[in-house]
Amino acid sequence: MDHSLQAFLKEEQDDLNHALISYIDTLDIPKQLNDSVLYSIHAGGKRLRPLLMKLTCIGLGGNEQRIYPAAVALEMIHTYSLIHDDLPAMDDDVYRRGQLTNHKKFDEATAILAGDGLLTNSFHSISTSDLYSAEEKVEIITKLALASGLEGMVAGQLLDMEAENEQISIEELENIHHLKTGRLISFAVEIGGYLAGVSTEKMKVLKRFGDYLGIIFQIQDDILDVEGDQEVIGKKVGSDIENDKSTYPHLLGLEGAKTYKNNYVKEAMKCLEQVGLKGTKLEEITQYLSDRNQ
Ligand code: IPE
Ligand code: IPE
Ligand code: MG
Ligand code: MG
Ligand code: MG
Repeated sequence: MDHSLQAFLKEEQDDLNHALISYIDTLDIPKQLNDSVLYSIHAGGKRLRPLLMKLTCIGLGGNEQRIYPAAVALEMIHTYSLIHDDLPAMDDDVYRRGQLTNHKKFDEATAILAGDGLLTNSFHSISTSDLYSAEEKVEIITKLALASGLEGMVAGQLLDMEAENEQISIEELENIHHLKTGRLISFAVEIGGYLAGVSTEKMKVLKRFGDYLGIIFQIQDDILDVEGDQEVIGKKVGSDIENDKSTYPHLLGLEGAKTYKNNYVKEAMKCLEQVGLKGTKLEEITQYLSDRNQ
C-alpha cells in the first residue's frame, strides 16, 4: 500500500480508537465482560466505516468532530456483528483481526454477551452525546436501528446462513450482500451527509453510492477469502469454501467476481461526481476499498 495512504489510515484509526475507548471507559462493566469487549476493540480492525462517515461529512462541508458519537456507535455494532459472526453456530471461525476469535479467547457465553452489550450501548453513545440535538439523536438512532436490525444486517446474516449449501441467483446473493454488509456501510455515508446538512437530492445519490460501496466491499471480502494472505487479513482464508457459502467467486469465478466489482466501482465513482466529491479523499478510499489486500 502507498506509504502516505497507510499513514493516513493509521492516523484516522488512532482518532477513532481514542473516541471508542473514551466512551467505553465511562462505563462500569464487570471484569470478564470488560476484558472480552476490550479484547475485540483493541484487536483493531480497519475502522473503514467511521472513515467513510468522516470523509463524506468533510467533503460535503460538515464539521468532522460531530461524526464521532455516531461513528463510535457504528463501529461498536460492526464489532458485535463480527463477534457473533465467528461463533460456532454461525461461521465457526477461530481467527479474527489477527488473533483468536472472542469465543475462543473467552467462552461462547461471554462472547455472546460482549456482542449484546456492544450493540445495546451503541445507542447510548448517541443518546448521551452533547454534539447532537434531540431531533438529530432520534434520526441517527432510527437509521442505525434499521440498518443493523431485523430488516438490515441481522436479516442479511440469516439469509447468508440459509444460503449455505444452496444454489442461489446473483440477485439473491446481491440482496444478501446488501443487507449483511451494505446497510451498515450505507449508514456511514448517509449520516456523513446528514450531519453536513445536504439536500434531499444529494442524500438520494449518497444512498446509492453507499449501496454500491457495500456490495464492492463484500465482493472484495469474498475475493480475499479465496486469494488473500491470512497473515495480512488476520482471519482464516478458505472459511467460505469450508462452510459452502454463496459468494461472488463461488457464483462467477474469481475473474468474474473482479469484473463485476469493477463495474460497481465505476457506478460508485459516477455518484461521487454527481455530489461533487470526485477528486476528494473519498474517491481514493473508494478505490482502496475495492483493491485492498486486508
Ligand atoms: C469484515 O469487515 C466483515 C464484513 C462485513 C465484510 P471489515 O473488513 O471492515 O473488518 P475489520 O473491522 O477491518 O476487522
Ligand atoms: C459478515 O460477512 C458480515 C457481517 C455482518 C458480520 P463474512 O462472514 O464474510 O465476514 P468475515 O469474512 O467473517 O469477516
Ligand atoms: Mg458470515
Ligand atoms: Mg464470517
Ligand atoms: Mg468473509
